Amino acid sequence: MKFLENKKILIIITGGIAAYKTLDLIRKLSKLNCEIKTILTKSGKEFVTPLSITSLSKNKVYTDLFSVENESEMDHISLSRWSDLILVAPASSNFLTKISNGFSDDLASTVIKASDKKVFLCPAMNVRMWEHASNKQNINTLKSYGYRILGPEIGEMACGEFGEGKMLEVDEIINQLEIYFKQISKNKKLKAIVTAGPTQELIDPVRFITNRSSGKQGYEIANSLVENGFDTTLISGPTNLKPNDNLKLIKVKTGEEMHKKTMELLPCDLAIFTAAVSDFKIKKFNKEKIKKNKDQSFDLDLNPDILELVSKSNKKPKIVVGFAAESENLFDNARSKLEKKGCDLIVANDVSNNEIGFESDFNEVHLFYKDKNIDDEKIPKNFKSVIADELIKKITNKFNFFND
Ligand code: C5P
Repeated sequence: MKFLENKKILIIITGGIAAYKTLDLIRKLSKLNCEIKTILTKSGKEFVTPLSITSLSKNKVYTDLFSVENESEMDHISLSRWSDLILVAPASSNFLTKISNGFSDDLASTVIKASDKKVFLCPAMNVRMWEHASNKQNINTLKSYGYRILGPEIGEMACGEFGEGKMLEVDEIINQLEIYFKQISKNKKLKAIVTAGPTQELIDPVRFITNRSSGKQGYEIANSLVENGFDTTLISGPTNLKPNDNLKLIKVKTGEEMHKKTMELLPCDLAIFTAAVSDFKIKKFNKEKIKKNKDQSFDLDLNPDILELVSKSNKKPKIVVGFAAESENLFDNARSKLEKKGCDLIVANDVSNNEIGFESDFNEVHLFYKDKNIDDEKIPKNFKSVIADELIKKITNKFNFFND
């Protein structure tokens, strides 16, 4: 656990029976030479005492937003600035609701809102609460804020019911923290490019050819790469989306511009092409608006196939990933696309199903690797942010991005 050594971790304990496990977490992290400071919420205090925490962390426990003795320290700012990472364990359903809606009515929620650090959340709650639509929505919102969700696990709960909602085991939390610190220490050098969104191919000054791509999946993939420490550039066609502040965004309109910008950024370690680039462009742009009563026909040319050109270029990134939006014969088309384009992985989604894919917040994908020994994998229907995280996890594992 050498990457955790000497790290400063601010642990927030909210109200939940799993809080007793957090005492063990504090003990183990302290043994690994982490410095721990703790915030205990009002409900957290019902489960563990400040005294037991202090004796394990050897540091003061913070509880109040407005405390006379610490007023000059501005705890809600200084605690976050002091830490390398903020970990909420257990994160109760109520606390998740609070921070996903931007409340800052106690020290814990105010620190998170004022934080400039990575926030890890370890949810712990009853299975029905975990599965509740409002909770799912909160989790998705929190992910979009860039917070990392660890767990929960499936198992028997304190209430006697069984299901998903148990706080992740302490050793696994420690493991995830170590991986995170390892990634951010190493991956600074890893460079990723993502293309996203539709393109617009101008017909005349007011009209263009485009498609239904919202860009959501590509933006989530770029966000997830940033979360994993990649130096990420997102080349985006026109969308209304706002990406993570920590990535470089290049806005383009046409497929040709997207191609040019992509080539300028090569070489890189990982390129993921999610953009729905228009297959066609207008052969001759009409400088004036085409009149109703004039000849309305126009000729088309093929746009450059960025995925194929990059995969076959002498500056090919270490790993190239393409997407295949198919409305029929998903598997056959994805496999032949993999072959034709020469990329390392094709991520296929079925766009005949309106509940996933284009414009939707959800997706479901199948992975086809060049390496034929690997069976096709499926990432089942989920929010695009979750699909993105899973996909990046699979890519970095399969292609050994984080190995020494
Ligand atoms: O051939 P098709 O358009 O279905 O291939 C989809 C994949 O190819 C996606 O990864 C898409 O981003 C990429 N592509 C591209 N340039 C094009 C067309 C598609 O990079 N002109």
